[in-house]
Amino acid sequence: MAEDSTAVGMNNSTKQALESRALAPRFYTTNCEEIGRYDIDPVREEWDAMMAAFELDTNREHFKQNYEFDPETLDADPELKAEFLDLLVSSITAEYSGCVLYQEIESKVGDPEIAKLFRYMARDESRHAGFINRALNKLGVAVDLSVLKRDKEYTYFRPKFIFYATYLSEKIGYARYITIYRHLERHPERRFHPIFKWFLEWCNDEFAHGEAFALLMRANPKLLTGYNKLFIRMFLVLVYTTMYVRDHSRPKLYEAFGMDVTEFDHTVFDITTEISKQVFPMTLNTRDPKFQRGLERLLDLNIRLDGLEGAKGVGATFKRLTLQVGIGTTILRLFLLPTIPNQMPKQVAMQPAW
Ligand SMILES: [Fe+2]
Ligand SMILES: [Fe+2]
Repeated sequence: MAEDSTAVGMNNSTKQALESRALAPRFYTTNCEEIGRYDIDPVREEWDAMMAAFELDTNREHFKQNYEFDPETLDADPELKAEFLDLLVSSITAEYSGCVLYQEIESKVGDPEIAKLFRYMARDESRHAGFINRALNKLGVAVDLSVLKRDKEYTYFRPKFIFYATYLSEKIGYARYITIYRHLERHPERRFHPIFKWFLEWCNDEFAHGEAFALLMRANPKLLTGYNKLFIRMFLVLVYTTMYVRDHSRPKLYEAFGMDVTEFDHTVFDITTEISKQVFPMTLNTRDPKFQRGLERLLDLNIRLDGLEGAKGVGATFKRLTLQVGIGTTILRLFLLPTIPNQMPKQVAMQPAW
């Protein structure tokens, strides 16, 4: 055990998962006691129905199923293999990050009902992470989750920021998985790994987790009004732009799916935007050409910044700083674009409509 936990004994996937790059998935910690003071009573009926659905645990057996896969089939295309592994490692980090955070909230939140909700969600995320790790294991590069939990840097977010960010990432997770699943259903010859067959039930879990956050935010409407609207807007911009830049760093993967990565991201934005009307007071106009131009500029700046990795000296430092300022101002410009106010009645549905 001691040997595995040293940097020398650690495999590359674990090292990659531990990295704290700007766009890599992070681990979070928060003020759990404050979440314990959130109200449930205004949404009591929906809460009880939601908890009953979590209790039923219809996906219990789903992630226990096995599949055959010959890892050598991926060796034919090393670039695709590298991007696929990058996707798996980034996904397992995100899933496990959810698991660790939900477990922490469960143990410290104080309110037994909210604790139970987070226990159910940690259960699901732990299954998701375990399932990805089995896929990585078959490829000979499993991530050491105990090392990840112990050594990964944790970022502190106030509870409301956790709610905005996690709600969005659950719904985006749903939108991504369902879009890939439906696409590969139409083009099974493009399904280069069996893991994608699991995405349907998987995305329903993420959808339900998003519903839980939506419900808690609706029960505590202060989280959605006043200057909190500015924070929500900022989180929408940050989460959407991060996804866009990250997806465009894996061109081979989307080529293998037979998908246009830009169109894929816009489909994911559209679905997430539509769902988020259940709770957020505004949505971003992601189809506005100005928004698209901002995304492209961000991508270009990030590529140039990555190109400077490892470069030393005053020149490189100055260039890096200029690019970082460019990224900051582009994000600010996207934040300042007009948003669309949301008039839709707030609602929560356990079953996705897509
Ligand atoms: Fe998950
Ligand atoms: Fe989730």
